[in-house]
Amino acid sequence: MFSFFKKKNKIQYPDFFPIKSDMHSHILPGLDDGAPDVEASLQLIRGMMDLGIKKAVATPHIIDDLYRNNPSTINAALGLLQSELNKEGLDFEVSAAAEYMIDSHFLQLIKNRENLLTIKDNLILTEFSYASSPDDPFRICFEIIMAGYKPILAHPERYPYFNRNLKIYSKLSEQGFLFQVNLLSLTGYYGKDVAQAAVYLIENNMVAYLGTDLHHLRHLEALSDPKNRTLFHELLSHRSWNLF
Ligand SMILES: [Fe+2]
Repeated sequence: MFSFFKKKNKIQYPDFFPIKSDMHSHILPGLDDGAPDVEASLQLIRGMMDLGIKKAVATPHIIDDLYRNNPSTINAALGLLQSELNKEGLDFEVSAAAEYMIDSHFLQLIKNRENLLTIKDNLILTEFSYASSPDDPFRICFEIIMAGYKPILAHPERYPYFNRNLKIYSKLSEQGFLFQVNLLSLTGYYGKDVAQAAVYLIENNMVAYLGTDLHHLRHLEALSDPKNRTLFHELLSHRSWNLF
C-alpha cells in the first residue's frame, strides 16, 4: 500500500512513525463522530497497523448534549469490535476509555464521584470546547485531581483561545494538566496557529503524550503522507514519549 514511500534521489523516512501505541482514537463503532459502524472500525484499524501501531485506546467523546456515552455503551461497542477483530484474525490490541468534554455533565460526574473511564491507572482524557474558553480551567483541573484523577488535556494546541496566548500552557501544566498533542497538528492539517502551538509545546518539552485522534480515512491518509512522515521524523525522532 505504501510503496510510494520508496522514491529515489530524495531523503525519505518511510519506516518512521513516532508511536506504536495510540491513546486517543475514535475507532469504536457507532458512538460518536468517529467510525460509524464496525466495518469502518476495521478499516481504520488496518490503516493503523500499516502505520506500525500495535495497540490503541479507543476514546469516544462524552459530551452532554451530543454524545451521551457511558461505560455501558462504550463497553458494548468494544465487545462488538473485539469479536470482529477475532473473527478477522487481526492481531491488534484495543481497549476503551473516553474523551470527556469538560461541561456541566462532566462536572456533575466529578461531583457525584462517579467512576470515570481511565486511559490507564487514574489518567483520564479531557477536552475543552473549541468555541469558548472555560471559565476557570485551573479550578477545573484542581477539582479533577481532588476527585482522584490525573487529567490529560487532549490537543491543547487546537483551542484558539490558548494557541494565541502560548504562555497559558506553562500555567496549565503547573496546575496539573498533562498534554497530549495530535500528530496531525504538527503538519498544518488543522491550520497554521495550531501547527505553531504544537511545535512550541514539543520544543518546550511540555508534551506527555502523542496521539492520532483518528476519526476517519482522511486522517489516516494524512498520517500516511510521505511528506508528513518525513516531518514527524525530523521533529520527533530524537524524543521519547509516554506509552501505554
Ligand atoms: Fe478526540
